[in-house]
Amino acid sequence: MSFPVDVVVMAAGKGTRMKSLRPKVLHRLAGRALAQHVIDCAARLSARSVVVITGHGAEQVEAGLSQPLGTPDSAAPRLRYVRQEPQLGTGHAVQQAVPVLPDDGVVLILNGDVPLIGQATLQALLQACEGQHLALLTVDTGGDATGYGRIVRSQDADRSVLAIVEHKDANEAQRRITEWYSGVMAAPAALLKPLLQGLTNDNSQHEYYLTDVVKHAVAQGRVVRAVTTRDEVEVAGVNSPLQLAELERACQRRLAHALMEQGVRLADPARLDVRGELMCGQDVDIDVNCVFEGRVKLGDGVRIGANCVIANAAIDAGAVIHPFTHIDGEKLGVSVGRGALVGPFARLRPGAQLGEDVHIGNFVEVKNSTLAAGAKANHLAYLGDATVGERVNYGAGSITANYDGANKHRTVIEADVHVGSNCVLVAPVTLGAGGTVGGGSTITKSTPPGALAVARGKQMVLENWQRPAKKKP
Ligand code: UD1
Ligand code: CA
Repeated sequence: MSFPVDVVVMAAGKGTRMKSLRPKVLHRLAGRALAQHVIDCAARLSARSVVVITGHGAEQVEAGLSQPLGTPDSAAPRLRYVRQEPQLGTGHAVQQAVPVLPDDGVVLILNGDVPLIGQATLQALLQACEGQHLALLTVDTGGDATGYGRIVRSQDADRSVLAIVEHKDANEAQRRITEWYSGVMAAPAALLKPLLQGLTNDNSQHEYYLTDVVKHAVAQGRVVRAVTTRDEVEVAGVNSPLQLAELERACQRRLAHALMEQGVRLADPARLDVRGELMCGQDVDIDVNCVFEGRVKLGDGVRIGANCVIANAAIDAGAVIHPFTHIDGEKLGVSVGRGALVGPFARLRPGAQLGEDVHIGNFVEVKNSTLAAGAKANHLAYLGDATVGERVNYGAGSITANYDGANKHRTVIEADVHVGSNCVLVAPVTLGAGGTVGGGSTITKSTPPGALAVARGKQMVLENWQRPAKKKP
């Protein structure tokens, strides 16, 4: 685009039909607030600035939205908030932004509750605007347009746009018009500002309608351009929990299709939820009912079993996550090494770092711990704040007692240690390489390499001991 674009996002309305205490534009779609989708879309358009108009729940809205990221070819747009108190209509909303809109740009007006508006459509609208015209995004699917502002066009051959008439103000004939206003328009600031000044509220709702700028522009002899879409998902607003859920499905369907286009095999695209960014290598299989949140990376050949919830994690090539596994890396992240096997019913928490071919079995919880290649904890165990060496075998029912009630301490289990079943490793403690801990032991002291430690009851015994050789079958 040869002209700078300043985006206005309207987000001051109440959204009464959501019947929620939370401001409407903060409700989540595919893991992001509705208005965040709109802000991020503006960033992808390389907009110069984004002004969000807030009113109802303004503080919450402002705290709940974040600066969009830049794109490879442009910096992130500047994000600003302007308050609209009280809310006297959409025209009044945009009037509040006038002082912060530079005169040399094109103003693109978006709705904070229309989250799936697409970049290509907006680009087409900006092209129609050409830096000089008022341009509207309209919708015509030939169906019912109840509730929407209707596009009134001239009867002659050029069918030029004359006005937008709100449903509540429309007569019978106007209500039969199937073309409606999406809520999105673009106009040069220098044209828009005086038009906004001319708005009045003499209509059925006693509101200052933004849509009235159209008839005023036409009265001044200006041509109003329209770009029409048939894609209802793109222009769908969220006004109720039902609409939110329907849009979520539509959004998930798109995400699922995009993944399958890349070659990801989804057992059922209708039973996948991506609430963030899911990046997949080649030959990835994902079974039904999996939820991905935050940033998740799946390497080549990764298999995810049914009913897994995976957030903020990187899973390396060939790893298998068996059904019902819960992984949440939060801020620290979780990493699962090449060829590792996790689950079923495993739980990986922030800072779990599993090396190559690590096995984590059912009802095993790992938090802030590093497991080196080939380490195994196959059943009913807890590893917290632990450093676990290569090929360690960590028995069923064993735990690290990492918390003394005030502080967390580390447990170090060196390479090739075998920890029997039902052991309590009271941190800080180090188990020397190649040692063994007898089942049922409570370990309170570090052990030297190769030792057998047995500490059942009060006594702890340290002996030099040889692990028996494996019997040949
Ligand atoms: C608006 C359009 C209508 C269009 C429809 C598309 C007007 C007058 N009408 O109607 O032609 O078909 O969108 O969805 O513009 N808002 C504020 N401050 C206000 C009022 C609203 O910020 O004082 C915000 C709302 O939060 C919302 C957006 O503006 O994000 C649209 O407001 P809404 O009341 O939903 O307008 P509609 O009646 O749906
Ligand atoms: Ca609306």
